[in-house]
Amino acid sequence: MVSDEIISVENLSYTYMSGNSYALNNINLKIRRGEFVVIMGPSGCGKSTLLYTFNGIIPHLFRGKMEGHVIVDGIDTRESSISKLSQIVGMVFQNPETQIVSSTVIEEVAFGPENLNLPTKEIQKRVEEALTIARLTDKRDFPTTSLSGGEKQALAIASVIALRPKVLALDEPTSMLDPAGAAMVSNIINDLNKKFGITVVAVDHRVEWAVNVADRLIVMDRGQIIVDDKPSNVFKLYELVKKIGFRPPQVTELVYRLMDNGIPIQDFPITVEEAERLVRWLVDD
Ligand SMILES: Nc1ncnc2c1ncn2[C@@H]1O[C@H](COP(=O)(O)OP(=O)(O)OP(=O)(O)O)[C@@H](O)[C@H]1O
Ligand SMILES: [Mg+2]
Repeated sequence: MVSDEIISVENLSYTYMSGNSYALNNINLKIRRGEFVVIMGPSGCGKSTLLYTFNGIIPHLFRGKMEGHVIVDGIDTRESSISKLSQIVGMVFQNPETQIVSSTVIEEVAFGPENLNLPTKEIQKRVEEALTIARLTDKRDFPTTSLSGGEKQALAIASVIALRPKVLALDEPTSMLDPAGAAMVSNIINDLNKKFGITVVAVDHRVEWAVNVADRLIVMDRGQIIVDDKPSNVFKLYELVKKIGFRPPQVTELVYRLMDNGIPIQDFPITVEEAERLVRWLVDD
């Protein structure tokens, strides 16, 4: 039977070798196939560390102390290797420069499938598919150095999806890009989830973006998961959101301020559309 869960994190704690406190402290988390999950929280709260446990970078590359288990598509990451796990969970990092190793776009996308020793036809098929999804078909023969920041990140994504992973894990994939590059990369990620059914787990600080795309928001603080819920529910937790200093979407912030000033509002809009409905209702009242 195919389990509904693609990632299952059980009582996971982690301490880096050079760290003296928990980077992750008893994390329990289930991610279902096809979900779009965004992880947020203050700097140093453990977001990247948690992602690294999904493809085995932790515990296989970093030699810290890991307790608990991470099960990915039915495989305990302790019992597998980074190269096997990378075919299930593709990882994309903040800076595409650190991920690109080849001199042309097409070589870069073919690199992973070639290393899997797949038949030539299969490699070609995967490369074409990945180039199309990443909107890089026209740039196939371009030197990788000639690409814009957004295109470089699109290429990093194409290289990862050429391995046909079931999960795409992204660590602040647009934080180094200009708005146009960020929009392009966000659209590619959205397509991968909505059209191709790939499970997406993204660490991202863009709360306005997150509430529009995510099925679930996970908010971390000091190595723990503080909230794990639908975006609309997360921002109903007014006291908690304020306490941990988590910035809500601007439209929600506006409602929080009105509440602080004694205006009784029961609704917590998270998108502009929801805020518009609330304002109309207040005006009509
Ligand atoms: N290689 C390492 N060695 C020792 N400690 C580390 C290492 N990497 C991260 N840490 C520590 O682990 C904790 C979690 O770090 P992590 O990078 O996962 O946070 P983050 O939420 O991704 O932060 P940011 O938003 O700044 O990227 C922090 O206290 C950090 O200092
Ligand atoms: Mg990080």
